[in-house]
Amino acid sequence: MPRTAIYPGSFDPVTNGHIDIIKRGLTLFDHIIVAILHNPAKKALFSISERIEMLEISLKDVGNIEIDTFNGLLVDYAAQRKANAILRGMRAVSDFEYEFQMALMNRRLNRHVQTVFLMTGLRWIFTSSSIIKEAAQFGGNINGMVPPVVNRKLAEKFAGRVKGA
Ligand code: PNS
Repeated sequence: MPRTAIYPGSFDPVTNGHIDIIKRGLTLFDHIIVAILHNPAKKALFSISERIEMLEISLKDVGNIEIDTFNGLLVDYAAQRKANAILRGMRAVSDFEYEFQMALMNRRLNRHVQTVFLMTGLRWIFTSSSIIKEAAQFGGNINGMVPPVVNRKLAEKFAGRVKGA
């Protein structure tokens, strides 16, 4: 049986920290399904199709991955996809409580799905989609923190907005 993991998230947008986790995850798993949560109730900057496109372009040279969307419970999606692991990156102490809570709830919901954490690479420890969006919104330089396509898309989204406002 190939070892398949689900790497779930909002990916609004994908960052270099996410890409790093996916590439390192591929040393542990045969196949990774990058699963974007489709939650219309959660306000996002990018549409689902834009997020898929940015992931596809950013990961075009990476094999053994698939990009998909899901809604409802993550463990149900994992079971449906025959994945027995959920892959998550952990940045710092601030991530721990939320991740711990989520992993324990997921385990309670389905004991056959294991959550595997990888420590985020030191270079990406302070980055997140939210903080990158905030910097980009006010014209901050986010070069090197996101794949080039995301940098371009963010610039397009925020074009015309007042720099440093
Ligand atoms: O990138 P994010 O926003 O930190 O990802 C959060 C995500 C998508 C992993 C989480 O919200 C999720 O799994 N949502 C689906 C509903 C669910 O199963 N929640 C966890 C148990 S209640």
